[in-house]
Order: sequence, then structure tokens, then C-alpha cells
Amino acid sequence: MCHTAITREDELTERIFQGTIHTLELYSIYLGKELGLYDALHAEPRQNAEQLSARACIDERYAREWLEQQSVAGLIVVDDPGRPASERRYTLPEDHVGVLVEEEHATHVAPFAQMLVGIAGALPEVARAYRSGAGVPYERYGADFRKGQGGINRPAFSADLTNSWLLAIPDLQQRLQSGAVRIADVGCGEGWATIGLARAYPHAEVVGYDLDRESIDSARRNAAEAGVEVRFVHGDAVDFAEDGFDLVLMLETLHDLTQPTAALRALRGALAQDGRADRGRESCRSLCRSRR
Ligand SMILES: C[S@@+](CC[C@H](N)C(=O)[O-])C[C@H]1O[C@@H](n2cnc3c(N)ncnc32)[C@H](O)[C@@H]1O
Repeated sequence: MCHTAITREDELTERIFQGTIHTLELYSIYLGKELGLYDALHAEPRQNAEQLSARACIDERYAREWLEQQSVAGLIVVDDPGRPASERRYTLPEDHVGVLVEEEHATHVAPFAQMLVGIAGALPEVARAYRSGAGVPYERYGADFRKGQGGINRPAFSADLTNSWLLAIPDLQQRLQSGAVRIADVGCGEGWATIGLARAYPHAEVVGYDLDRESIDSARRNAAEAGVEVRFVHGDAVDFAEDGFDLVLMLETLHDLTQPTAALRALRGALAQDGRADRGRESCRSLCRSRR
């Protein structure tokens, strides 16, 4: 019998080929999220392309293409692929709902697709920065990256942060529940941790702080929709001027700062006597692990 050895070149070729397929699949998930197609499918099982197009207000031919691609990719199921295209009915399986639809579900990882699209859009500027040595400001990654970043951490910030992570800090709970305490979430992004903190500690004054104006605007909208009273401030952590905080958090932010030491110095100065500073989970990987 003749065996052809698989070379390292073959393996790399296959790896890049598979990576391309998976990346394109994430782009299809981006469309499903952006156009509300998963929500529409979740609202009613067994829809055909015409029904989905009417429910989600998209063109019917595009609805059909997307539904067919999604079922081939195994993200949704089709009742009877043997029927004519217009009669095939599609359903979002129940065990995909948390991953693709429910934004506070522990398994909700669909926002990675938004992050990826945002990063892709900024890559030409990143390439120019490699040549010039200049930086690429956070805001250049745009709304998709911002929303993806916020969305991917939202489940953990809405639950684990106050139900688990903060409980691990000795003596903190008693202090946070004792009444008029002050908490700062520095580098708050879309504000999901700030909102989670305000919900868990209704007597606390909670402030979200961020250098990116668009993030602050989104955070204010998110808090208004959640019916939560928090204050969001636009500014550089290095210039943080308030003080008397019982807890200062930086969640997945320290690594983004251009002057981390100066920011930490300013934030230490913002702490009340015996106040706590926590840089939170430093990587998305550890966030995902803690959510399992
Ligand atoms: C990776 S995002 C994390 C956002 C949010 N904490 C989360 O986990 O979803 C980092 C955030 O830090 C903010 N940031 C970067 N440099 C900053 C600075 N010097 N002062 C305040 N915020 C800053 C960015 O605008 C961005 O919103």
C-alpha cells in the first residue's frame, strides 16, 4: 500500500483554508446579528425565506441565500432540504439560542463576529502604523468592535462580576452593601459592568469612566434602556480627578492604556482610605474560562 506523507506545508495550507472558512462563517453570523435574523428565527420556528424576509425586513432572495448557508454550516436546521427552495422551512435550534440570541446568556459568544469585523476594518490603518510607528486610537476600530467588545463581556459583567469575582475580595461585600459607597469602573466601554454594579449595589454611587466618547454615549444609552441610574464621564484615566472611592475597577482595560503606570497612580489617589483597586480579568480568555 502506498501512503503519501502529509507534509508541514500540507498542514499549513489546510489550517489557512479552514481558518478562511471559519472566518467567513463568522461574517455570516455578523449579518445574522446585524440584521436581526437570529432574533426573527427565534421568534417563530419553521419559517421559509419569504416569512423571514417579511419578519426581518430584508430582501427575500438574500434571506434564502443566508438561510441556505446557515443550514449548511449547521447553525440552523432545515426541515426538508429535498423540497423546492421556496418551501424549505428553517429553525434556530434551542441550544443555539444562548450562543446567538440571548445577550446575557453565559454562552453568548456571537459578539466575537462583531469584534472581528471591527478589527478587519481597522487593519489598513494598523498596517500604516507598522510603517510609521504611530498608534491607532481605540475609536478607529469603530462601532462594530466597540459593540463586540462590550457584548462579549456583558454576560460575565452582568452576573459573574458581582456574584463571584467581587465576593473573592476579602471583606469587600460587607463594605459595598453597607450603604453610601462609591464605585468607579475605569475604561467602562459600553458600560455593562457599570450597569451590573449599579444593579447589584443599589445604594452605591457608580461611575463609569472612559477615554472614548462614543463608548460613553453608548454606555449612557444602555443604562437608560436598562433603567439604571449611573454616571458616565468622558476622560483619560491619567487625569482622574475624583476621590473617595471604595472600589476602583479596571476590567480588561489596563493593557489598553498608553500610560498604565500614570493611570494606576491617579486611580490609587482616587481611593478612599481602605478602598480597593482591582484590575479585573486581564484577558478575554480568562473571562470565557470563568463563564463555563
Ligand atoms: C478593551 S476595552 C474594555 C471595555 C470594557 N471594560 C469591557 O471589558 O467591555 C478598553 C477600554 O479602555 C478605554 N481606555 C483606553 N485608554 C483609556 C484611558 N487612558 N483612560 C480611560 N479609558 C481608556 C477604551 O476607550 C476602551 O473602552
